[in-house]
Amino acid sequence: MHDSRETPVPAAFVAGFPIKHSRSPLIHSYWLRLYGLEGDYRKVEVSPDDFASFLGGVKSGHNPYRGGNVTIPHKEAAFHIADVRDDVAGRLGAANTLWLENGRLHATNTDVYGFLANLDQHHQGWDRAQSAVVLGAGGASRAVVQGLLDRGFQRIDVINRTEARAQELASHFGRVVMGHAMDKLHDVLRDTRFLVNTTSLGMNGQDVPPIDWASLSPQAVVTDIVYTPLETGLLRQAKAAGLATVDGLGMLLHQAVPGFEKWFGIKPEVTEVLRQLVIADLEAHG
Ligand code: ATR
Repeated sequence: MHDSRETPVPAAFVAGFPIKHSRSPLIHSYWLRLYGLEGDYRKVEVSPDDFASFLGGVKSGHNPYRGGNVTIPHKEAAFHIADVRDDVAGRLGAANTLWLENGRLHATNTDVYGFLANLDQHHQGWDRAQSAVVLGAGGASRAVVQGLLDRGFQRIDVINRTEARAQELASHFGRVVMGHAMDKLHDVLRDTRFLVNTTSLGMNGQDVPPIDWASLSPQAVVTDIVYTPLETGLLRQAKAAGLATVDGLGMLLHQAVPGFEKWFGIKPEVTEVLRQLVIADLEAHG
């Protein structure tokens, strides 16, 4: 008997609420074209109330996806709903990448990978610093701190507007990590060789806290996970003080790599062409 069903095109989703501004489709469609793969990567807006049933549909095959990315506000829910979670997702309590394997929904968190791969690509040897100052104590900060711990950092000072949150993060990770209020910023920055901003400061023109750049080590590397604008106030000031900087766009590009490989079977490369494509889109659409 003739089977008229067509083999479905391999598809992945990015689910968020809202999802309009996600750049992930641009990145994954570029790779699909570049490697000549048949596939589809779709934005889906899913409200928190509908998220569990959306993933239920993915598992049952009703929603025809091999997996996908999840973003704000679904990262914790995705972690809890998944059947299998890897170590890194477990340590963060949040997942951003899902895939089906033998009918089970697997979860990982590629933000740590993205953070590290961006720095490795743009400033080799950055991790020799071994001590770091991290601004912010939210979800993004956890991924950054985990990455620094994975690279063997011996001391990580987390500074946050809400001190209690910094201390909570510190106690989650153990004694290498210390939590402080903003007023300790000046003290902890002395001689530091690595500074990273994980807060939304620097977006929408919000200003950075006052920093005495001369007190950092002259070898310091300064990075920001914010990439709109590409050169945040923090990076602009650090550069003007003669310090090395790495912008946050590469974290977005690299965090997409493991998901693409899981769904479409090829480990894609983060190239300058891709970076320029995303920069052009950011300039066109903000
Ligand atoms: P994300 O998952 O992106 O990290 P989050 O969990 O909401 O988002 O965390 C946002 C971080 O930015 C927090 O560290 C927050 O500080 P508080 O814990 O005190 O809220 C920080 N942040 C946001 N706006 C800020 C501002 N205007 N000044 C200082 N810190 C700010």
